[in-house]
Order: sequence, then structure tokens, then C-alpha cells
Amino acid sequence: MERTLIIIKPDGVQRGLIGRIVGRFEDKGLKVVGCRFRKLDESLLAEHYSAHKERPFYKGLVRFMSESPVLVLALEGVDAIKVCRKMMGATFGRDAEPGTIRGDFGVSRSYNLIHGSDSPEAAEREIGLFFDADEIVEWQPAAHRWVYDAEDLA
Ligand code: RTP
Ligand code: MG
Repeated sequence: MERTLIIIKPDGVQRGLIGRIVGRFEDKGLKVVGCRFRKLDESLLAEHYSAHKERPFYKGLVRFMSESPVLVLALEGVDAIKVCRKMMGATFGRDAEPGTIRGDFGVSRSYNLIHGSDSPEAAEREIGLFFDADEIVEWQPAAHRWVYDAEDLA
């Protein structure tokens, strides 16, 4: 099992898409192990997006991400990072395949609805950045024995 950090960005929250986006992850078999609804401040975003600091879109990205609340999720599942990235689709909505979250709900470059960790190292770092250790909840969804292979749950 693997964990990943997902953020439903301000555009997703403002457009009332929280339920539909989270529902897709639940339907797929991802388990919510952490959830916080909050406004992000610029210092937290500077850490989160430190890799993009020199990019031309950085300032606008931080402004957009701090303007309005977001839903931050820690999700767990087999290959959760890869599975969630595939479900999100390509970075820009106009390029993202139909059937993906960005492909179905957006056309923008900046307003692309969702963030997902892109590697195990990023996931660990980002979960630590957005959650205290006691905000991550270990639990077993009863239905998962009908969702996952036995060896995945062992
Ligand atoms: P994310 O980090 O949000 O999951 O998205 P990603 O990996 O698909 O994209 P990344 O290259 O990490 O870029 C981070 C976010 O910056 C914004 N962006 N805007 N206007 C632009 O050209 C541009 N390029 C990137 C997007 O919000 C992207 O998700
Ligand atoms: Mg990224």
C-alpha cells in the first residue's frame, strides 16, 4: 500500500466539485486516511512548490492557491501515486484525456482543479507538510476485501 497527497484546488472547491472528485477516488478503491479543509498561506505554498520557484508561473500559482480554501487529502491504496496521477490526467485541462478529472472538468492551464504527489519521496514530504502525524488515521474499509487482491491486503 502507498500513500499520496491530493489537493482539491480553489477552483475545484469554488465550483462545487469536491464531492464528485473525492467520489471518483472512493469508487476506484482509494482510502481516505487524512482530510483537512483549509486556506493555504503563502509560506506553506512556498515550501510545497519550492521546485517551481524559478518558473514564470510561480507567482500566479501561489496567488491562485492561497486565494480560497482547498481540501487536502491523504489517500492510501495499491500504487496510489500512479493511480491518482492517471485519474487526474495531463496538467492542462485542454490536453487531458476525457475520463480523467482534468479532462472532464476543465480547459485551463492554471485552474486545473487538483494536485497529486508525483513520486514516493514527494508524497512523504507533502503529507508531512500538510498533516500532523496524529491527523493520519489507520482504518480498514470493510469492502476492501472485495476490491483488492488478497496479497495486497496482507
Ligand atoms: P500538480 O503538481 O498540481 O499536481 O500538477 P502537475 O504535476 O501536473 O504540474 P506541475 O508541472 O507540477 O505544475 C504545478 C502546477 O503549476 C501550474 N502551472 N501553470 N500556466 C502555466 O504554464 C502553468 N504551468 C504549471 C498548474 O496549476 C500545475 O498544476
Ligand atoms: Mg507537480
